[in-house]
Amino acid sequence: MAKTKSVFVCQSCGCESSKWIGKCYGCNEWNTFVEEAKITGIAKSSRSIGSSPSERAKPMPISQVSVDALPRLKTGNEELDRVLGGGLVPGAMVLIGGEPGIGKSTLVLQTALNLPNVKVLYVSGEESPQQIKLRADRVARQTADNCHVVSEVLVEHILTHIENIKPDVLVIDSVQTLETERIESAPGSVAQIRECTAAILRVCKEKNLPTFLIGHITKEGSIAGPKVLEHMVDVVLQFEGDRHHMYRILRSIKNRFGSTNEIGIFEMLSAGLREVSNPSELLLANQHGQMSGVSISAAMEGMRPFLIEVQGLASTAAYGNPQRSVTGFDLRRLNMLLAVLEKRAGFKLAAKDVFLNIAGGLKVSDPAVDLAVMAAIISSNLDLPVASQVCMTGEVGLSGEIRPVTRIEQRVGEAAKLGFKTIIVPSFVKGVDFKKFDIEVVKASKIEEAFKVLFA
Ligand code: TYD
Ligand code: MG
Repeated sequence: MAKTKSVFVCQSCGCESSKWIGKCYGCNEWNTFVEEAKITGIAKSSRSIGSSPSERAKPMPISQVSVDALPRLKTGNEELDRVLGGGLVPGAMVLIGGEPGIGKSTLVLQTALNLPNVKVLYVSGEESPQQIKLRADRVARQTADNCHVVSEVLVEHILTHIENIKPDVLVIDSVQTLETERIESAPGSVAQIRECTAAILRVCKEKNLPTFLIGHITKEGSIAGPKVLEHMVDVVLQFEGDRHHMYRILRSIKNRFGSTNEIGIFEMLSAGLREVSNPSELLLANQHGQMSGVSISAAMEGMRPFLIEVQGLASTAAYGNPQRSVTGFDLRRLNMLLAVLEKRAGFKLAAKDVFLNIAGGLKVSDPAVDLAVMAAIISSNLDLPVASQVCMTGEVGLSGEIRPVTRIEQRVGEAAKLGFKTIIVPSFVKGVDFKKFDIEVVKASKIEEAFKVLFA
């Protein structure tokens, strides 16, 4: 047993201090220092410095490093594979973060059960094997004998289970429940999380064992525990969405083996998560007919285009101070767009309450949604519906100009695929041949030009 003495550790970045301090010198957060037991003597086996290097760790020219032996393992879940960059890399440690109840355990269990002919060890510190079985019965397409479950929190025991079972894929649910005998602080503390992850990581790299590590996130949205966790693992995925909506988005924040631009979209059903390969169809499912205050934008989320519905409401303010309220959009951006409408297009909105909602519980950050936001608000203000079968894409600048957007071809293609008749695009588009799409493309350089088409 290692000798222990106490040390104060920042719960946000992992900085250490011998006495309590209010503000962390590492990450400038306040009140994050917590007293923890410090291990002074680390077990010999975990030290690599000083011991003789093994055969595997011999330096060699990079051109001679063979990667053929490491084919990616397809998980069979297309959305997950896409986010991982084309499958699971052997020896990769994948951290999946998300709020409680968002569906992390469901996603990983479902993936584990559907892995063909692959032995999975599912270690849960939160649920009993019975609870896992109940969930498995809900989500599994077939009964799988290849998935072994165990309820365990002690890292030393988990390592023994890995030795005995020899799994091809390991799942740890969740990292905050893990604890090791070598440290005395509570599970979930920085020191515990760091030590436990390091121990598992070592085994995962030695045995080329791909590992899914589930982590909870804090109120602020970062993975609970230290940032050091994100540095240690190979891939960080964030599972997000609104618990009151069915959609879930799996976003890649860090990926050593692929792009971080990819997202995966799922729908939470009573029988687990369903992959959504065509998000637009879901988001546009409600037919509004000819209602004012609704417009459709061709937006991008990651590398994928989809059409989203923007809903706006402008009504006379009941009290002196007009309200501005948004769901799924940036409030400052809305204020900016309202100022542009007021100044450049002459709409009097200063005395109006303005509400904006992105349908389906999505959060969009794509600036190309600007034009649709303006259209929805103007449509509500004038009580004129936007011409049906028209969608739009374009960022709006401070002088009311419509600025070019990225990946215009993909956006137009998606709109054409979904049967829209007309799309309004920024006029500065070079080298794109829109003739191949079965849709009328209207170019507009100013918001007024776009409004003429929309409210004709
Ligand atoms: P869970 O995977 O336990 O979340 P996490 O591990 O991220 O905390 O998912 C919890 C929610 O998902 C729960 O509130 C119920 C819902 N759910 C379904 O709607 N359908 C299902 O088939 C399952 C298993 C869960
Ligand atoms: Mg869970």
